[in-house]
Amino acid sequence: MRQKEKPVNSFKFELESRSINESLARSCIAALIAQLDPTVDELADIRTAVSEAVTNCIVHAYPDQLGKIYISAALYRGGRVVIRVKDKGCGISDVPRAMEPLFTTGNTEERSGLGFSVMQSMMDRIAVRSKPGGPTVVTLEKRLRLKGDADGSV
Ligand SMILES: Nc1ncnc2c1ncn2[C@@H]1O[C@H](COP(=O)(O)OP(=O)(O)OP(=O)(O)O)[C@@H](O)[C@H]1O
Ligand SMILES: [Mg+2]
Repeated sequence: MRQKEKPVNSFKFELESRSINESLARSCIAALIAQLDPTVDELADIRTAVSEAVTNCIVHAYPDQLGKIYISAALYRGGRVVIRVKDKGCGISDVPRAMEPLFTTGNTEERSGLGFSVMQSMMDRIAVRSKPGGPTVVTLEKRLRLKGDADGSV
């Protein structure tokens, strides 16, 4: 059996689903990723993707109450970054549909249904696991181009 690769650094934290915590989440993740010396563009892409995932928890998962958002980030050798954003909110009944560009169950004056598309374009891989009433887990993955002879060690 293939051994699970160990991250060179990782952290986990949880937040309440207050809108103010969206910027807190993206800043925490950016501080970790900064250890890999990313380009400005790479860091901006990751911040944007995290922001979309966390906003979805705040807006959709817990529409009428506060709930917990569980975030983890791991850095692997070679510059691979894996971020998980999880909530225990209302869940998604049809994940492929939810991921279609312009699909939204939100108020169309505020939401454009492009959050998942943005995450997809900013990251190399996105996986969404959910079911109605169950937890929703969004996994975001990106491989950074390491500068010079860096190997991703931190
Ligand atoms: N964590 C979540 N919990 C429950 N439903 C979700 C969650 N994340 C996304 N969804 C569902 O997936 C749909 C599409 O999400 P997406 O982020 O692509 O667009 P949006 O949030 O509706 O609009 P935008 O992100 O452009 O403001 C949402 O409208 C919502 O129905
Ligand atoms: Mg969204």
